Amino acid sequence: MTNILGIETSCDETAASVVINGKTIASNVVASQIDLHAQYGGVFPELASRAHVEAISAVVDQAMLDAGMGIEKLDAIAVTRGPGLVGSLLVGINYAKGLALAANKPLLGINHLEGHVYSLWLTEQHREIVFPVLVLIVSGGHTELLLMTDHGKYERLGGTLDDAAGEAFDKIGRILGLPFPGGPNIERVAAQGSPASYNFPRAKRDQSYDFSFSGLKTAVMREATVMPSADARRARGTETKAQLRSGISVSDVAASFQQALVEALVEKTARATKAYNVTEILLAGGVSANQALRKAMRKETELPVRYPPLNLCTDNAAMIATAGYYRFEAGLRSDWDMEVIPMWPLTSDAYETT
Ligand code: KG4
Ligand code: ZN
Repeated sequence: MTNILGIETSCDETAASVVINGKTIASNVVASQIDLHAQYGGVFPELASRAHVEAISAVVDQAMLDAGMGIEKLDAIAVTRGPGLVGSLLVGINYAKGLALAANKPLLGINHLEGHVYSLWLTEQHREIVFPVLVLIVSGGHTELLLMTDHGKYERLGGTLDDAAGEAFDKIGRILGLPFPGGPNIERVAAQGSPASYNFPRAKRDQSYDFSFSGLKTAVMREATVMPSADARRARGTETKAQLRSGISVSDVAASFQQALVEALVEKTARATKAYNVTEILLAGGVSANQALRKAMRKETELPVRYPPLNLCTDNAAMIATAGYYRFEAGLRSDWDMEVIPMWPLTSDAYETT
């Protein structure tokens, strides 16, 4: 039995989890800071690292308690090393180093995006995952389309040129006056609206596998809001906030926006399945919780589509422990003095980095 403790603090969740043999979740503790950041309409970095400092020790203790094991039963400690907020990453990585040194356990530095990928290995194991697979990571910070040919082997096909998919959801949510985070709230109100109400721009029509959501965001803003006049802007100084247009249906705008974004994601992913001989499509990251995305992806391709259970779509430490398990089995170990890597694209090199 191989027991890995995972620790995740890259953004606004303080999380710890013990995973056995890379597939059985013995514990999974997530302390969310959503309430803390909701008042600012987004993640406030300084507050995030302070909250991680306050929570980390209790979160890790709870994960060990829930798993019913002492630190001595662990085979290794896996921790998110990047990408993410530098202050937040530092809290997790330093805690993990302390624990690993004190208990004399190997340390595994994990790429957060690789963690999202490995959340797919925690789905009900009806079918083994057979390489190569296509992976679409859609989170608050990233939109990446990858060809995964083996454990730790990634070829980046494309990604967003501007906003990440989750970021677009969060920005539009804010414009529509919905609570943070925008994604789940847009999905909720979109269920009451008609996706055909507005014809927002879809895919970037080119042969690349890149995405762009800034045009969509601008189109939604133009429909849904009234920009203040130049006079009003001057009178209010630097304040240039747009106002929600009176009489618009928030649920219709939300449904039409969600539809346009989903179609853009599905179109390129479906096209990549034709160019690469893959066995299935894996969806990961916070936005993979979205039912409209799951449904459209299933409809547009003949390949099986796999996504994580809802609680493992958003940030958690079970996915970090699972990614750690495959590194551990491959004999990879991180150095005691490893540092955080705030900007760290997911490539095969990321996997090799110790
Ligand atoms: O993976 P994640 O927890 O954090 C990052 O690594 O960024 O993703 C968070 C993002 C947020 O932007 C949130 O709005 C979005 O995932 N999200 C959703 C849904 N649930 C979370 N977007 C669309 N539909 C959802 N149901
Ligand atoms: Zn994430």
